[in-house]
Amino acid sequence: MNDRSGPATPRVPALSNDLPGAGHARDLPEADRAREPLGAGHAHDLPGAGHARDLLGTDRARVPELMEAVRAYAVRILDGLDDRPAARAPVRPEPAPLPEAGIGLEEAMEVFATRWEPGFASGPGPRYLGFVTGGATPAALAGDWLTGALDQNPTSNLDSLAPDLERETVAWLRDLFGLPAGHRGTFVSGATMSNLAGLAIAREWLGEVRGVSVAEEGAAALGPVTVLSGSPHSSIAKALSVLGLGRSAIRHVGLLPGREAIDVDLLARELERLDGTPAIVVANAGTVNTVDFDDLRAIAALRERHPFWLHVDAAFGAFAALSAGHAHLVAGLGEADSVCVDLHKWLNVPYDSAVQFTRRRDLQARVFQNAAAYLAPLGDETEPEFVHLTPENSRRLRALPAWFTLAAYGREGHAGIVRDCVTLAADLGERIAAMPAYRLLAPVRLNVVCFTLSDPPSPARIAELADAITASGEAFLTTTVLDGVPALRAAFSNWRTTEADVDRVAKILGEVASRA
Ligand SMILES: Cc1ncc(COP(=O)(O)O)c(C=O)c1O
Repeated sequence: MNDRSGPATPRVPALSNDLPGAGHARDLPEADRAREPLGAGHAHDLPGAGHARDLLGTDRARVPELMEAVRAYAVRILDGLDDRPAARAPVRPEPAPLPEAGIGLEEAMEVFATRWEPGFASGPGPRYLGFVTGGATPAALAGDWLTGALDQNPTSNLDSLAPDLERETVAWLRDLFGLPAGHRGTFVSGATMSNLAGLAIAREWLGEVRGVSVAEEGAAALGPVTVLSGSPHSSIAKALSVLGLGRSAIRHVGLLPGREAIDVDLLARELERLDGTPAIVVANAGTVNTVDFDDLRAIAALRERHPFWLHVDAAFGAFAALSAGHAHLVAGLGEADSVCVDLHKWLNVPYDSAVQFTRRRDLQARVFQNAAAYLAPLGDETEPEFVHLTPENSRRLRALPAWFTLAAYGREGHAGIVRDCVTLAADLGERIAAMPAYRLLAPVRLNVVCFTLSDPPSPARIAELADAITASGEAFLTTTVLDGVPALRAAFSNWRTTEADVDRVAKILGEVASRA
């Protein structure tokens, strides 16, 4: 078990002191340096603005050397991921004021390495099983570093091929998830933004059917809107709030017995009750607690009798398409009008990254178009510039890490990650089921194990259990409530996780249960 103090923080590699101006902080009298670990005091102690310019000039002259040092530091962090405590209880450092003159990159790295980094979780590590958290494959991380180095704004083709790389990446992703060519996609920051974009297009479609332009007249022109869903993720309510449709627009439809999947007969009944009034249906492909899947084909078939926009939240469930034994779970995904897929989950690219797909790019451009004389024109109706397709105008080239990992490992490599995670989740599920202290709350359908204490579990006991697991440093699991039962979830979506990690997680679960 890890000591909570954890492995030593990776040392920031020392740089040569001989270079001209190699960090003014080193030139300070010892007493001054010892007094304040961060720019806390430096701001007042140091010469003025000229000094800051010197530091920037010095860093500029040393870019290759400094970046080598950052690379070496990052590599040591990566090498330590297996042993670093999976998560940390928050112990915040003393607040520090804005540094006035700054301390230069080399000193800033040292301050970060002592003041902040030891408190960071092993998020990309193999036993961080909280939420649904991917790691970063080597190629994805390389792509992420290069994203910063190249610093492209891919929202228009005016100056760069970067948007074309994004288009290629989106086409690869569409292929990966088996979506038809009619689905066009755009990168966004996460599944919440992907759901928001999909529902914004749905809102515009409702306007089209009712003969109003929501983009021009506002959401109020629509009147009340009904959003039908079985087990929607909380981000759906957030999106509806942002879109002016309101959280209370959601009408929860009954579920299949003992499941989180929607009862399609009950959905049909709700649609009949709407009597031809167009609605939005949010189908769920991979619920966060038990990874349950709505029957997408059956839902899509209801459009023959009822007018509705079908949005599918397949944040991580879309990856079932990569496993021959599980692809049936997402059969019918291509029939959706809009689809949300997160990439910082199971594609194993660093935060933040997701993609949104839709068959109605024209409506999307109507919602998000950003007309200004100095910006890119709308472009071809079927292929508008990205600036006209999402809430952001400027953004980073999020596609590059995804491009790199798909180029490096291909469909097969990523299918392997999915298969391994599914196997590991099933294994942990079996081990938990065999422990008298615990019981599974649902079969392990894909990559999440949802379980609780066999003795009637109170929220306090589950919270204590989660804290004890976190305190051990061995693993990080998050708590939840399923059907009113407080529970724990272990979500597998990291390419680094192995059987040896499942051994360690099972061991710590056994230990904390015996103390609970
Ligand atoms: C099904 C589902 N939808 C949406 C989200 C929101 O994802 P993000 O935090 O990337 O916005 C999640 C996150 O776990 C999810 O599981």
